[in-house]
Formats: sequence, C-alpha cells, structure tokens
Amino acid sequence: MNKKKILVTGGAGFIGGNFVQYMVNKYEKYDIYNLDLLTYAGDLTKHSEIEKKENYHFIKADIADRTSIMELFRKEKFDFVVHFAAESHVDRSITNPEIFVQTNVMGTQVLLDAAKEVGVTKFVHVSTDEVYGELEFDPTTFFTEETPLQPNSPYSASKASSDLLVRAYYETYKLPINITRCSNNYGPYHFPEKLIPLTISRVVNEEKVPVYGDGANIRDWLHVLDHCSAIDLVLHEGELGEVYNVGGHNERTNLEVVKTIIKTLGKSEDLIEFVKDRLGHDKRYAIDPTKLEKLGWKPTYNFETGIAQTIQWYLDNKEWWKRIISGEYQKYFKKQYSNNR
Ligand code: NAD
Ligand code: DAU
Repeated sequence: MNKKKILVTGGAGFIGGNFVQYMVNKYEKYDIYNLDLLTYAGDLTKHSEIEKKENYHFIKADIADRTSIMELFRKEKFDFVVHFAAESHVDRSITNPEIFVQTNVMGTQVLLDAAKEVGVTKFVHVSTDEVYGELEFDPTTFFTEETPLQPNSPYSASKASSDLLVRAYYETYKLPINITRCSNNYGPYHFPEKLIPLTISRVVNEEKVPVYGDGANIRDWLHVLDHCSAIDLVLHEGELGEVYNVGGHNERTNLEVVKTIIKTLGKSEDLIEFVKDRLGHDKRYAIDPTKLEKLGWKPTYNFETGIAQTIQWYLDNKEWWKRIISGEYQKYFKKQYSNNR
C-alpha cells in the first residue's frame, strides 16, 4: 500500500523542525517531506537522527518559486500540506518588510495554487496569535477565533494576509483547509534571535541581555511539543474551514522570563540591560484555547517545567547555538542593537 505523503514546509526551522521529528517518529505510515529554502533560520543538522529514516525526505526549494513548486506538486501529488515556512522574526520585519510579503504572502499563495491543482486532502496553515493585534494588561481578556484581525507589525500583517488567502481558497474553491493561530513557542532548536534562546545564550556567556522598554510586555508561552501535538490533532480531526487558537495559559512579562532564566543559571540580574523599545511593540498576547480543547487537545508542559528543561537543553547543546551565533548572526546582532541603547 502506498504511504500517504505529508509535505511540511519550513521543516528546517524551529517549530517545523520539531514537527518533522515528531511526525517521522510517531507515524511510520506517512512519508514526511521537509521542504525548506534553508534561509538564515533553516538548519538541517538538527535532523541527523532522522535523516536516514525511510519515511523522511528533504527538498530544498523556495515556496515563492511558482515553477518549481508546481512541478514538485505535480510529481509528488502530496496528500497533506502543513505550512510553517515563513520569515518569522518581528524585529527583522521592522527593518526589512519586503521579504515578509514575498515569503509569507506570495509563498503561501503559490502553495495554495499547487495544493488546489493536485487536490490535497488537507492544507494546514500555521499562523500566529499576532494577527489579532494586542490586548490590554487586563487578565480577563483573551484572543478567541472571533477576535478581529488587527495586525500591528509588518510580520503580523503578512501572516494575516496569508490567513485571509487561505480562508478565501476555502470559501471560493473549497480547498480543504485549517488555520492554527498559536502563541509564543519555546523549546529545543529555537533560533537565538528570539527572547528566550537569546537570553539563555547571553546569560551563559555572561553577556548583557537586552530587554525592550520596561520589560512589562506579556507573552503567552507554549512548549513547542505542545504546539506539535495541536497541529497533529488539527491535521487529523480539525473541521474543514475552521480556525483553531493554540495556547496553554502561560502568561509572563518579559522581565519575569528573563529573571527566571538568570536565576536558573545562577547568574546576576545585573546582566539585564533595558534598551530602546521595539517600534509598535504589542503589549500583551493571551490565547483562549477552548475550541481546540473541545477537539481533544491538552498541553503537557507548564512554563516552570518547560523552561527548566529548555535551559538544560541549551546547556547540553551549546555546539548547536554557538555555531549559529558565531557566523552572520554577529553582524545581525550589532546592527539590531547598536542604536538601541
Ligand atoms: P523559523 O524562522 O525558525 O523557521 C522558518 C523556516 O522557514 C526556516 O527553516 C526557513 O529556512 C524556512 N523558509 C523561510 N523562507 C522560506 C522560503 N521562501 N521557502 C522555503 N522555506 C523558507 O520560524 P518558526 O519560529 O519555526 O515559525 C514557523 C511558523 O510558525 C511560521 O509560519 C510562524 O509564523 C509560525 N508561528 C511561530 C511562532 C513562534 O513562537 N516562533 C508562534 C506561532 C506561529
Ligand atoms: O506570538 C507568536 C509570535 O511569537 C510568533 O508569531 C513569532 O514568529 C515569534 O517570533 C514570536 O514573536 P515575538 O515578537 O513575541 O517574539 P520575540 O522572541 O521576538 O519577543 C518576545 C518578547 O520579548 C517581545 O515582547 C519582545 C521582547 N524582546 C525580544 C527580543 C528579541 C526583548 O525584550 N528583547 C529582545 O532582544
């Protein structure tokens, strides 16, 4: 019997990478195709343990390259698409928005056209809570699937645009889709430009940790493996055309997160450096995951155990992140933070 083919875009990145490993190890009955352009955020060394497995395949391609993507879909006739590939860092979208439109909007449209032509069984579009904009510091308010889209950064605007295209392909062409909107992820292989891995790597190296503004902004942290199980469930059980929010009620201020990491690593809070705020910095994100819970999802990590394990993972895998921060990253860091102080 032919195995079903699942195309995972962005499977060399943080969440897509964790998802590829989760799926390859969990389901021998599927062939998992990891399609990735290997931008600065893509890295295949993380897959050394699965790359020899029969059900894992890698394809280097740009999702916005229409000719290659159409050709690939015609040849492979994928059954499912789980679409993670994106430019994902808000700060980079503030300095260089164009690539975010190219990859996140144009790339998604190319994939939708290809999925429509071969008639996939389902297209899962992995989106973000940032499309809803920001919440006030009022602990009783949450993003639900009904919250209007009000993106504030070029990144979230590009993700919201792609969400609308995905929705339109369902309404117009009946392409079988789901959209997931998740809160901030953390865990193994998180690229060290993002707050948690940036803080861990800098505290380990006893370097200053840049905290934007007064550090009071709130994010709702979810362990990446809980995100993977949510997408697995939506892929198999999600009702066609529906949006599902993903989050586990783990709200923390940025300052709380940074202090937790410093304390766990036994270092001094003098490492904290308050720097100029991010432009258009969203105050608070918080997810109401009731709809997904009704589908049967339950997160397994709370923030305390998840962050402790994650810090330990970064201590055990210094080679991985030290290699990343020793290259191009140095230039990025200097440029990003030089005018901030
Ligand atoms: P990431 O930046 O770590 O990885 C993105 C991956 O996409 C990289 O491997 C990169 O090489 C690849 N890629 C970029 N442009 C491409 C192109 N044109 N063609 C093919 N591949 C390309 O991102 P992440 O944090 O793992 O996020 C994955 C997805 O999840 C994104 O769509 C993001 O919007 C969404 N998301 C992220 C979070 C989070 O907290 N990180 C939360 C919610 C949703
Ligand atoms: O909410 C989901 C989103 O979470 C995803 O869609 C994005 O792809 C992902 O990057 C993440 O976006 P954030 O902007 O929330 O994550 P980031 O790690 O960049 O920042 C988290 C918070 O920490 C935010 O309030 C900004 C702050 N921050 C960040 C950096 C990089 C700092 O204070 N200092 C920093 O140096």
